[in-house]
Amino acid sequence: MKIGIEAINFYTSHYYIDLKCLAEDRNVPFSKFYHGIGQEKMAAPPPDEDVITLAANAAFAAIQSVDTKKIDTVIFATESGIDQSKSGGIYVHHLLQLGKNCRVFEVKQACYSAAAGIQLSVPYLTLYPDRKVLLIASDIARYGIGSAGEPTQGAGAVAMVLSAQPNIVAFDKDSGIFTEDVMDFWRPNYRDEALVDGKFSIKMYIKALIESWQQFSERSGRGFADFYRFCYHLPFSRMGEKAHIHLAKYAGKEEYSNEFMMSQIIDTLYYNKIIGNTYAASMYIGLLSLLENSDEDLAGKRIGFFSYGSGCVGEFFSGEVLPGYQKFLAPEQHTKFLNNRTEISYEKYKEFFTYSIPEVDGDHRTPKNETGLFRFAGISEHKRIYQGLL
Ligand code: CAA
Repeated sequence: MKIGIEAINFYTSHYYIDLKCLAEDRNVPFSKFYHGIGQEKMAAPPPDEDVITLAANAAFAAIQSVDTKKIDTVIFATESGIDQSKSGGIYVHHLLQLGKNCRVFEVKQACYSAAAGIQLSVPYLTLYPDRKVLLIASDIARYGIGSAGEPTQGAGAVAMVLSAQPNIVAFDKDSGIFTEDVMDFWRPNYRDEALVDGKFSIKMYIKALIESWQQFSERSGRGFADFYRFCYHLPFSRMGEKAHIHLAKYAGKEEYSNEFMMSQIIDTLYYNKIIGNTYAASMYIGLLSLLENSDEDLAGKRIGFFSYGSGCVGEFFSGEVLPGYQKFLAPEQHTKFLNNRTEISYEKYKEFFTYSIPEVDGDHRTPKNETGLFRFAGISEHKRIYQGLL
């Protein structure tokens, strides 16, 4: 029996800034961002867009072709949740009008949590092949104005329906896992922006990759050459390139040319370069970028996935692209959507970024900006209000 992705979709903010604006503000050459970290544009969510609206917008399109009565589990993976107690998934479950016989919960481990969602869903769906899991990863990456991490922010969500009737990717059984207690990136409850030891976080990412790969290759018997393409967690696209070169070297593939190695990941980077870091969602947006931008038919090809969440947990796993997967994707709509976003100035981005909701009980309404089918309308009696614009 194959278990994998039956449907998948992503969504990001309608607004972005070009990192040339940030470079100009900092008086550094824009090539530092465009080439040094490999990022060109960064999603800048307005005050009425949050992880719930991003998630609901991503999931709405993903579930259109699915028998939603069979979804009995919604897993909401995020670093940037909106409540200390209630799962963000319940808001999304309501906005999508899913059935009441459903378990809904939130998972957290920095950018790793959606991979945990997959690893828990595969055995669950093997046991109950008539059921479906809606796995949503949604995040807004915030490091702070003027910080070294600022150009590596972003926002977006990905929604995947996992089932025993996969159309897009079927996951393999084995994975390799690694955990170590480190402080490379974290966000105390009292902060809206992450704290990060940037260079250390890159070292830990690479260490977790090698350790996870080691266990994965021992368990699965698969080697580097068994993979046609690789999808990495993408905090910034150059990180994917660095990771891939390290892994190839570790796996004894020194003879591979740089050009060949880049061909194994280049298609995964397009969306990330113009959206930015989406934490838990980034690797799966990379998968969509690969499937929707590759000139080749990838059916039957094996993909390696490496998920990394600071703190830290890493996991390497794999899957096979299924025949006819193209019929279940929407590359034209995604390209149109990304091209039609509104570019905003550095000043406007700062205004969005610093907008804060008063911490008082009352009737607060968020200003109206362009959003998708759902928007965060405000707060009343400390309760968040969402509008469906269907
Ligand atoms: N033209 C081209 N390249 C240039 C350049 C120019 N004019 N000027 C500098 N560069 C290059 C540098 O040589 C460097 O390249 P290498 O990495 O190949 O050496 C690159 O641009 C970055 O420049 P700096 O080394 O000066 O780095 P920085 O101080 O700007 O910080 C960063 C970069 C550490 C990534 C920082 O943006 C950051 O802290 N980001 C957040 C943390 C992060 O994303 N960590 C990733 C791993 S953790 C993770 O994955 C979990 C997660 O999502 C957070």
